[in-house]
Amino acid sequence: MTNADGLKGKVALITGAARGIGMAAAIRLARDGADIVALDLAGSPWNELHDEVAQAGRNLLACEGDVADEVTWEETMARVRAQFGRIDILFNNAGISGPACPLQDYPLDEFDRVMRVNCRGVFLGMKFGAEAMRGGSGSIINMSSVSGIGGGRSLFAYNASKHAVIGMTKVGAVELAEHGIRVNAICPAMTETAMMLDLEIGKNTDEIAALRGHFNAMIPLGRYAAPAEIASVVSFLASDAASFVNGAAIPVDGGLKAQ
Ligand SMILES: NC(=O)c1ccc[n+]([C@@H]2O[C@H](COP(=O)([O-])OP(=O)(O)OC[C@H]3O[C@@H](n4cnc5c(N)ncnc54)[C@H](O)[C@@H]3O)[C@@H](O)[C@H]2O)c1
Repeated sequence: MTNADGLKGKVALITGAARGIGMAAAIRLARDGADIVALDLAGSPWNELHDEVAQAGRNLLACEGDVADEVTWEETMARVRAQFGRIDILFNNAGISGPACPLQDYPLDEFDRVMRVNCRGVFLGMKFGAEAMRGGSGSIINMSSVSGIGGGRSLFAYNASKHAVIGMTKVGAVELAEHGIRVNAICPAMTETAMMLDLEIGKNTDEIAALRGHFNAMIPLGRYAAPAEIASVVSFLASDAASFVNGAAIPVDGGLKAQ
């Protein structure tokens, strides 16, 4: 499925693009016609994304660095300016889940680590991304989560960080509107990526089936999302089809938060 050339001539920067939802979004936006700037941690495997973007006939600029590090953004934007001159779309997707444990046991250093990537990383992305959108229009899509809509157990910093992403989205939507930049957040539920599969490490087949059954039962559609299903919402928000959508936090959750 594509947005048939709907993003032709656009440049999209996607963080956390070396795998998971970020890679699915990069592939989708390339198929929609955008050139891709992919940012992920040093040592990330780029082969699959490189092949997919080439197959779509688009250009890929793969950059390495930590989204929470200001130098990463300075260096990435310098490379963007040299190759493309600007960006039109920014998907602030990179994020980490941190440990799962009760508040009383939640380690302070883990709290800081999760907030650093999930909040500071998005803040820097918005700041540098808006600056690089010089064409009088642009779309920023921030990755929140169903954890950014309601409460829950065990993922204290993750939950807090994903709420903060929605707050940053709303401020950005108001402040950047005068520059023609729309800012929205997406809030997926469980999606088939390494982040979810990591929860299955060390468990036997029965335990994995029980865990999956537990999560599936929470979702009215009864299953995890495929990364491509999240990417198609990113594609919509990036496109002119969403020209009046600004400041929204959109659940992409199979009905989880409708209950
Ligand atoms: N998988 C899910 O069920 C789910 C649900 C809701 C929201 N999300 C959110 O979607 C986003 C992507 O998740 P995913 O499931 O694809 O995860 P993933 O772990 O499969 O991929 C995350 C990518 O981000 C990169 N990354 C992590 N920290 C980084 C940093 N500091 N700088 C640059 N890159 C960094 C990783 O190297 C990796 O390539 C995250 O923000 C996550 O919180 C995921």
